[in-house]
Amino acid sequence: MATFGARRARCSLVRIGGPMRRVVCREFAPPTALEIEEVPDLQAGAGQVVIDVEAAGVNFVDALFVRGKYQIKPQLPFTPGGEVGGVVSSVGDGVNGFTSGDRVSASCWMGGYARQVAVGPSNTYRLPEGVSFGVGATVMQSYATAVFALTHRSNVTAGEWVLVLGAGGGVGRACVDAARSLGARIIGVGSSEDKRTAAMEAGAEATIDPTTEDVKVRAREISGGGVDVVCDPVGGDLAEPALRAMRVGGRFLVLGFAAGEIPRLPLNQILLSNRAVIGVDWGAWSMQNPDENRTLIEGVFADVGAGKLHPTEPQEVPLENVSDVLSDIENRRVTGKVVLVP
Ligand SMILES: NC(=O)c1ccc[n+]([C@@H]2O[C@H](COP(=O)([O-])OP(=O)(O)OC[C@H]3O[C@@H](n4cnc5c(N)ncnc54)[C@H](OP(=O)(O)O)[C@@H]3O)[C@@H](O)[C@H]2O)c1
Repeated sequence: MATFGARRARCSLVRIGGPMRRVVCREFAPPTALEIEEVPDLQAGAGQVVIDVEAAGVNFVDALFVRGKYQIKPQLPFTPGGEVGGVVSSVGDGVNGFTSGDRVSASCWMGGYARQVAVGPSNTYRLPEGVSFGVGATVMQSYATAVFALTHRSNVTAGEWVLVLGAGGGVGRACVDAARSLGARIIGVGSSEDKRTAAMEAGAEATIDPTTEDVKVRAREISGGGVDVVCDPVGGDLAEPALRAMRVGGRFLVLGFAAGEIPRLPLNQILLSNRAVIGVDWGAWSMQNPDENRTLIEGVFADVGAGKLHPTEPQEVPLENVSDVLSDIENRRVTGKVVLVP
């Protein structure tokens, strides 16, 4: 990953006054346009929990929100950041189950890139003993998506071959880890040595470098004829070779388009081998099915606490360096996860 300190001077961050610091996006623009503002400390209103943020997870989707490129555009101005780990500092009327001082993690959609965030208790989770704030701030989007894809949108079983694109990134590495926990055999695709090593450490049996190797040929060779499942959070040019790497009856899980280009897949390749292409939209499902989503995320935290899932500790970066972190994510320079520390 790039060194943030060296490029910090190029950030266009502006201080505005007041004690609670947060990142603010005032216009849809490159991350360099983000500012830091200071506002009064938050106090929990009725039905709210206020969290003193120790770590704010950074996700690819945050960069899309900042540029106004996500399918849903947030209302301006807004503070990005969809997941945090921290300590409850105040609890509003009508909230049961949390008290000041609790170590928690929360899924907040927006507002996480800040020293404090107010969230609903239904999106707040107690951190198991031994699970760090950094891990708490980075497992929800990546692991919930991976587990939802592998167990709700498909049914990956022990011994199946799973080809994971972007296997050194947030969602990709989580797919490797979650598929390994189901007993699957995994091939990770990663464009750098660092990313392929991360995929191997998460449980991949083999890796492919898409910059020098033919993904279809190599995946078929390694799996002995074709993979059962593809997890694709990348899209672009890699999707079609990955589709063609599937055996008869293979399932292709569409997770995202980090490459920017939404691929067009040849339908004959789906018809001829009785393959299936399956959409995975954890975000929408989580809002439509809040109770099931809570069960899923509690399961992720329980498995992390029990050592069945192995998220890595994220790299910690000061809140001021937000634009560098988002630029690095957009330019494929990040392996694993990063958190902003306010
Ligand atoms: N479906 C859902 O419910 C859901 C939930 C969460 C996230 N997502 C989506 O999943 C995608 C990946 O998210 P993430 O958090 O895993 O991102 P990430 O950590 O940045 O990883 C994305 C990976 O994509 C690959 N990539 C290829 N071309 C790229 C490009 N032009 N720019 C950036 N990355 C590129 C990179 O791997 P290589 O360098 O190895 O190619 C990179 O490591 C995003 O599109 C996100 O919106 C979907």
